[in-house]
Amino acid sequence: MPEQEGKVAFISGLARGIGRATAVRLASEGADIIGFDAVEPLPSQGGPASVPEDLEETKLLVEKLGRRIIARKCDSRDLAAVTSTVDEGVAEFGRLDVVVANAGILGNPGPVAEISAEEWDNVISNNLTGHFNTVKAAIPHLIDSGRGGSVILVSSALALRAQPNLAPYISAKMGVIGLMKTLALELGTQNIRVNCVHPTSTATPLLLNEHNFKAFRPDLDAPTWEDVEPVYRSMNLMPLPYVETEDIANAVAFLASDKARYITGLTLPVDAGSLLL
Ligand SMILES: NC(=O)c1ccc[n+]([C@@H]2O[C@H](COP(=O)([O-])OP(=O)(O)OC[C@H]3O[C@@H](n4cnc5c(N)ncnc54)[C@H](O)[C@@H]3O)[C@@H](O)[C@H]2O)c1
Repeated sequence: MPEQEGKVAFISGLARGIGRATAVRLASEGADIIGFDAVEPLPSQGGPASVPEDLEETKLLVEKLGRRIIARKCDSRDLAAVTSTVDEGVAEFGRLDVVVANAGILGNPGPVAEISAEEWDNVISNNLTGHFNTVKAAIPHLIDSGRGGSVILVSSALALRAQPNLAPYISAKMGVIGLMKTLALELGTQNIRVNCVHPTSTATPLLLNEHNFKAFRPDLDAPTWEDVEPVYRSMNLMPLPYVETEDIANAVAFLASDKARYITGLTLPVDAGSLLL
């Protein structure tokens, strides 16, 4: 029987990138999907915003696999909106088994001495409070079911190895580990497992955009992919500039599955060896 047959997963940041790949992967294993995305520009987003058509595309991809999906426009910074999204989905599909807090932004790189307090607040509220809201809204459904479940928080390899110029992002992603470990302790006796996935550079619009190219090659006026590729490559041990969204979805799917039934409180890097450097 497919790993997720008869199960329901709730995913934030569903419109594109890792969120979309995760939805498609879990749906391919039999899960129905509830999810949301802001699909509009977010404060301090840095890179390009996703658009409603992106969310529609995720919906079509899941439906093509023969699974049901409820995909809403919603901002993870708004707890009431996240709660009504997951409540609506659970009312429709009748259960919840897997929660993936994934929505995030990179922010605008810069040293702490130069970034604004507003930049700090924007990234922390998006990437840390947003994950808190997503799990807070969802876990009552896991607890009430009595069947247990799996919660996966998408952090970053940078949470396990800091680097300069990304303090709000890295602080938020390290904070996500604290949230994960606390939740794992609070929910373990109810068979609800809570883990983090830590991607290295992954091929999504969050990473691959002109704004970032400029941050990685400040010496050039208009750096191209050819200019930045060696920089991205140098951050991984294995010989590649980035991993694919499917590589992250594979790790999420493993943690969501019964194959990981006794794994909780784990920080799982998908890092092409970058943490060894
Ligand atoms: N791409 C990478 O290199 C990389 C590396 C490490 C970690 N990550 C993490 O992976 C996660 C997914 O990122 P991605 O690379 O797929 O980026 P992406 O920009 O392609 O997709 C992220 C999606 O999340 C949505 N989103 C962001 N903030 C939101 C909010 N407050 N409410 C609702 N939706 C919101 C965006 O609209 C977007 O559609 C993020 O948490 C990111 O920090 C990415």
